[in-house]
Amino acid sequence: MSLDDGKIIKLMNEGLEMEYASYIQYVTQAAITSGPYAEGLMGRFEEIASDEAEHAKLLRQRIVALGGVPTTKVGEIQIHKDSLQAVKINLKYERDTVTFYRKLLNLIPHDEVILYEAIEHILQDSQEHVEELERLVGK
Ligand SMILES: [Fe+2]
Ligand SMILES: [Fe+2]
Repeated sequence: MSLDDGKIIKLMNEGLEMEYASYIQYVTQAAITSGPYAEGLMGRFEEIASDEAEHAKLLRQRIVALGGVPTTKVGEIQIHKDSLQAVKINLKYERDTVTFYRKLLNLIPHDEVILYEAIEHILQDSQEHVEELERLVGK
């Protein structure tokens, strides 16, 4: 299996758009959320947002290393003031992210270790975010 750099760069830029969108989504929701457990959620949303910012940084670095240009586009953002609705929106987003990174990881040869581990790390965080949000909404 050889690495198709052009295809990988394109997909990583799609991932980068999603990371930017989820970062904005989480920090905005942290600022405006109200309703059950709002206080605890505000802090947690801020923390998850820093994971998303880190994912974006990893993607930018790997895109450049492959000879690509990191996108400045931002994916679709959905915001809800109600805390439970916000969690549901984020859960949907995280699930889509997991599906996306699973596919991407399957395209990367294991011996491309820096790239492989970067995407694996992002996938692992995304799976952790899914698990946590599922617990918050009772699945
Ligand atoms: Fe992320
Ligand atoms: Fe996430």
